[in-house]
Amino acid sequence: MSGFAEKHKKLERNVTLLGLAAFVTVAIGGIVEIAPLFWIDNTIEKVEGMRPYTPLELAGRNIYIREGCYSCHSQMVRPFRDEVERYGHYSLAAESMYDHPFQWGSKRTGPDLARVGGRYSDEWHVQHLIDPRSVVPESIMPPYAFLAEKDLKAGDMVKHLRAQRRIGVPYTEEAIAAANEDLIVQADPMASTADLEERYPKAQVRDFDGDPDRLTEMDALVAYLQMIGTLVDFEAAEPLEQPR
Ligand code: HEC
Repeated sequence: MSGFAEKHKKLERNVTLLGLAAFVTVAIGGIVEIAPLFWIDNTIEKVEGMRPYTPLELAGRNIYIREGCYSCHSQMVRPFRDEVERYGHYSLAAESMYDHPFQWGSKRTGPDLARVGGRYSDEWHVQHLIDPRSVVPESIMPPYAFLAEKDLKAGDMVKHLRAQRRIGVPYTEEAIAAANEDLIVQADPMASTADLEERYPKAQVRDFDGDPDRLTEMDALVAYLQMIGTLVDFEAAEPLEQPR
């Protein structure tokens, strides 16, 4: 038997040595994958257009989480042809970089919502949430009519934004200080919104639930839904993506 096989026989017959050798081999693989993470600042490529959520969008997102919408809806378009043709451009990592916790989901009883913003009118969303079967007869989605009746009690958004900043969302001091006003202003058609729009580019400012006299949970949820997937301008980026 050759020298190498003879040596290998020693390794195979000594369980401690074999265990140690196996550990070293696996550890090399682990180090190759993990070590670079200590030297790069960020694993997410920055993408133009992404900004922290407005206080109203954030409040809507909290309702989305509270109501368990994620148990039927994902928020991640995968880069497969069937998904891209149905939902739009596949999701980028940066698009959920300000999501704490993320809403990728793991189940699609209903459609993916990562590109739902702007697809329907506010009226459609309100009607659909009040009574899904009135607009989609075969729908099995539960109704959420109570959202239109409940005044939005978002809590102290100043604290909420500050907590978000602590975990890496880049809200400015100014945005944090104005959070409680911004929450109300975004859904008030009579308010002056220049500051809000400067702080949050592409923020959609209007009454969302069809009842301008009240700020309801429906306002917040629809504001959130209409924003999802609209912050990054994929049409502007399209020429860069074409194969050369
Ligand atoms: C039991 C599963 C279930 C839950 C929970 C659920 N949905 Fe749905 N949803 C569906 C199904 C099924 C559809 C497709 C039929 C329809 O449009 O109603 C749908 C459709 C939608 C659509 C239209 C999407 C599109 O592209 O046409 C939106 C928006 C939506 N849901 C939002 C929500 C929100 C917000 C919540 C939480 C408040 C929620 N859903 C909770 C099952 C669910």
